[in-house]
Amino acid sequence: MDDRFLRRALELARLGQYTAPPNPAVGAVLVRDGRVLAEGFHARAGRPHAEAQVLRVGRAARGATLYVNLEPCCHVGRTPPCAERIIASGVRRVVASHPDPDPRVRGGGFDRLRSAGVEVTTGVLREEAQDLNPSFFKFLLTGTPWVTVKAATSVDGVMAPPGTRWITRPRSRRHGRVLRRENDAILTGIATVTADDPLLTPRPRRGSRPLLRVVLDPSLRISPRARVLRGLDRDPVLVVCAPGAPAAPRHRLESLGVEVVEATVDSAPASPSEGVTQPIALAAVLAEVARRGAHTLLVEAGPRLTSAFLQQGLADRLVLYLAPRFLGRAEGTGLFDATRAPAGGRRELPRVQPEPRSARYARLGPDLLADFRLAERRG
Ligand SMILES: NC(=O)c1ccc[n+]([C@@H]2O[C@H](COP(=O)([O-])OP(=O)(O)OC[C@H]3O[C@@H](n4cnc5c(N)ncnc54)[C@H](OP(=O)(O)O)[C@@H]3O)[C@@H](O)[C@H]2O)c1
Ligand SMILES: [Zn+2]
Repeated sequence: MDDRFLRRALELARLGQYTAPPNPAVGAVLVRDGRVLAEGFHARAGRPHAEAQVLRVGRAARGATLYVNLEPCCHVGRTPPCAERIIASGVRRVVASHPDPDPRVRGGGFDRLRSAGVEVTTGVLREEAQDLNPSFFKFLLTGTPWVTVKAATSVDGVMAPPGTRWITRPRSRRHGRVLRRENDAILTGIATVTADDPLLTPRPRRGSRPLLRVVLDPSLRISPRARVLRGLDRDPVLVVCAPGAPAAPRHRLESLGVEVVEATVDSAPASPSEGVTQPIALAAVLAEVARRGAHTLLVEAGPRLTSAFLQQGLADRLVLYLAPRFLGRAEGTGLFDATRAPAGGRRELPRVQPEPRSARYARLGPDLLADFRLAERRG
């Protein structure tokens, strides 16, 4: 019984999955005598929480059970705390999948409900509830953004064919731009900015949140005319350089309204390729991104950065667009070509592996989309 209504709450929560961030997606069902009295979900920040929506039934809530996928809040945010509303409504029992990892809550909502005599059951469909809001849980529990790595490749694994910009067809590219809308930040490398001159903006632009655009540019060789430096009032740009980067380009970027920060560098180059002299420490970059409030980061870069994120186990999700073409693989152009293979041996595997449990595949016109959750490799 509890399972059934909580499953429904999870289904409702999913309706707000793309609009609720940075808030979690939450759904609620109010039930009495096995009958559903009301259903609700949290649509976006500043709008009523799912619990508040179902409590609109007023007196009918007396003696009812409230099913919700996350612990009701007990802090005053943009809306009053749900725990207080639940107590005032006369709801007898609350069934919640998971405690809220937000340090302002973390069990405080349950404590408040129990102290007012409301029965609380928690832990039902706990894993499903975490899976629904992975970036919210990761960010609040670890302080690190949820990282999605996106890559387009040919059947023979080529990501960067010389002289060709597009590997996939327009439908996949549109899909990729929508992915930008679902993230708080996007990251690329200076080599991609130089080769492709991308804007890195979410599209359609209407209704999307501001996107923090991050460029890793150790020696500040970005052109002041790069398209990514446009539209700063809507989508700010952060350029991350290495210590000792020249001052002149830094001042020029800052005068354009671009933020420039220095990050630490890895002692040994992460890649044997000659361009990378001082690879920026990616964990330091993630900390800079988190400091600016971004919970989610999309990596949309060339093979070097793409493989670096995967190799170092810093990616949580991999979205691959596979085009039905052979492009001829040259050294340095494939997904993992940035890493060195021992003579006669295989390249070292990345620290993360796709999780078959949550893999999703779809056709996008002639292309194939493979969307994987990633997990630390065992053994
Ligand atoms: N198929 C796709 O999905 C896709 C997507 C984007 C781009 N691309 C293609 O990728 C090509 C560029 O690839 P790329 O691999 O050379 O570029 P990239 O991964 O976009 O950028 C690499 C650059 O980032 C800087 N960097 C700083 N810290 C780093 C670190 N820890 N590890 C690695 N790099 C670091 C280095 O700059 P310095 O050289 O100054 O040291 C390095 O050259 C272009 O041809 C572009 O068209 C393909
Ligand atoms: Zn609430």
